[in-house]
Parts: sequence; structure tokens; C-alpha cells
Amino acid sequence: MTMQFNDETFRGDYTYHNSPEAIRRFPFPFDQDSYMYSVNIEQHPGGPKGTPFEKMFDVDEHYVAEMKDREITLAEDPLRCQSLPHMELAGWDLLELIMVSKAKDYPDLFTLHRDGNDWHWINKPLGIEKKFTFLDATTLPCGPMEYITRQTQGDFALLHERDNNLWMDAGMVTSQADWSLDFDVGMNFFEWHAPVPKARKMGVFDKALKFLLAVGQGQHYRRLNWTMTVNPRLDTSPENYHKWGPEKRTITPENVGQKQFLRVELQTFFRLPRSNALAFPIRCYLMNLEDIASKPKWGRRLHRVLRDIDPALAEYKGFAVNQKIIVDYLAQFDDGAPTSPGI
Ligand code: HEM
Repeated sequence: MTMQFNDETFRGDYTYHNSPEAIRRFPFPFDQDSYMYSVNIEQHPGGPKGTPFEKMFDVDEHYVAEMKDREITLAEDPLRCQSLPHMELAGWDLLELIMVSKAKDYPDLFTLHRDGNDWHWINKPLGIEKKFTFLDATTLPCGPMEYITRQTQGDFALLHERDNNLWMDAGMVTSQADWSLDFDVGMNFFEWHAPVPKARKMGVFDKALKFLLAVGQGQHYRRLNWTMTVNPRLDTSPENYHKWGPEKRTITPENVGQKQFLRVELQTFFRLPRSNALAFPIRCYLMNLEDIASKPKWGRRLHRVLRDIDPALAEYKGFAVNQKIIVDYLAQFDDGAPTSPGI
């Protein structure tokens, strides 16, 4: 295998780390010195070689460790994976999309042989080899969505379309920025977005839903979202708030560079062929402030964004409590130079 996978943890001793290559390809989300919600959607895949935007499903050095972390979370709380009965076909669609894409994009890591509905899947990094019958759930150890998302980085929501709306009727959610699949399952686009400040009044959700409903077969799109997380923790769920919430109070001027992470979500949209459902993968990238500031343009820009952000967004994203320490730390990387638009 050409790719090296990190031996690291996202809880307990938090040994998660980014190599120089991971720092180079980090999807820094700010193309200007300020930030406000917008319908920032563009075509996917597509982007310079080696970036997380190049392939349909990015696989990187954190793959194996992220899958282990998912396994731990699911063992403690099986409700992180739910699929309402009518969503099984969408699960097969998703399994097909991921297996076909990964086998094409990473032939040294994944192989898929298909003979009619007799499929043979080999996942080398996780040591999995499986023969099964496509569309026959009795030939897999669990449902198709659970099977493939236990082998794919990022969270997944599967949306059923009806009544001109999208309904979160299935998902695998173990690396979320403080929202709960168990709470949201069965909700529609406006209901699950209700806690987000400002965006509804700005018309962001009306426009976004209109766009998503118009996504046709074979079309794929992406957007970036971001938040802040103390320690490199994937599972920042409401269910486990008692574990990670208190960690916010451990930030000091001395440790903020290492312990405060920018959490970037690469969100993609795929219309699925048989079910007409929409797949919404949410891939999480974590990088601490010290590593971000190793790129002068990023350190400078992040300082300005977090210094000037609307207080309602700082509160919603959960970093208002540490905003001063973060901004004071980042100020040392801001020489006041003007920056040009673009990343
Ligand atoms: C936040 C799901 C598409 C904009 C959220 C949240 C969820 C979610 C669960 C957290 C809400 C909470 O606090 O409980 C989804 C799903 C989508 C989708 C499943 C696909 C159908 C979009 C699109 C936009 C968008 C297309 C375009 C603008 C936002 C914004 C936030 C948000 C601005 C707040 C994020 C933050 O400040 O960290 N979304 N979303 N969402 N969503 Fe979506």
C-alpha cells in the first residue's frame, strides 16, 4: 500500500496528529478575512491534485484510526446508526457509490469485482474481504449503509425527498459537531436546521433547499463548513457532552496552540440512482492552531476571522468561552499585511 496510516487516538490520550503532508492539504475554509453563512456550494469532485477535493471520497492518513474510533462509539451507543425501513434501498445505492468510487480512485487500497449481483469487495487497509449479493441484505453482517459507512471516513445522512422537502431518514453519525442523529432522525431540512442562528432569516436555508431538490442523477456538489473543537475529538455529540464539554475549560494561553482545533467539514451531495435519495457525507478534518499558523497566510486570516466574527456565531459554534485566548494567541501571526481573496 502506498499510503501510511497513523497510529493515533481521538479520545483519552489524544495522540491524533497531522503529518506535513496532511497540513499541506488541509481544506482551510476561509477565502477572505471575514466569515458569514452563505450558500457556498460548488461542483464535486474537482480541485488540484492531492487536495481533499480531487476524489469523490477522500482517504487519508487518518483512515484506519477514524474507523476504529467509529467502532468504539457504535459499541457504546448503537443509535448513532439508524435507518428507517424505507431507506434500505438508499443504503445499497450508497454502498455502490462508495465501493465503485474507492475502487476506481484508490486501486491499491480497494478492489471491487462485480459479476451481476455477485460482488467481491476487498478493503486492504482494514483487512476486509467479503463476497456478497448486491441488494440482498442477508449476505452482509449488517445493513448496507452501516456496512459501508463503517469503512468510510466522515458522517453520513441519507435524505428522503417528499413534499418538496428533505427528510433525515437514515444516517451514520459518530463525528459530529454537537448534533444528534437520534434527535434529528425523521426531521425535515428546516426542522433539523432550527438551532442555527441568523441563516434562516438570511434566506440561506430556502435557497439551499431549492438547490438540493434540483440536484439530478449523476450530479455531485460540495460545500465547506467549520467550527472549533478543544482536543482532537471526533465524537463531539450532545450524547457525550458531559465528556467533552468540560474540556473547553482546560484551554490556557500556554496550551491553546496545541489543544484548540479548527474543525472543517467537507460536505458533499450525491443524488442516488435507485432510491432518488440524497446522500450527504460530512467529512471532518481537524488541525490545531499551531499547525495552522505554520502557514503564515492561514494564521493571519484565521486571526481576523475569529476576532471579527458575529458573536451569535461564536456562541453557536461553542468557542465564545475561549475566544479571547484564541484571538490573543493568533494575533502574533498577524502582521497587519493585506491579504488577497482566495485560499
Ligand atoms: C448546520 C445537516 C445541508 C447550512 C447543520 C446541522 C445539521 C445539518 C444536523 C447542525 C444543526 C444543529 O445545531 O443541531 C445538514 C444536512 C444537509 C445540510 C443533512 C443536507 C441535506 C446544508 C446546506 C447548507 C447548510 C446545503 C447551505 C448553506 C448549514 C449551516 C449550519 C448547518 C450554515 C450551521 C453550521 C455552523 O455554524 O457550524 N446542518 N445540512 N446545510 N447547516 Fe446544514
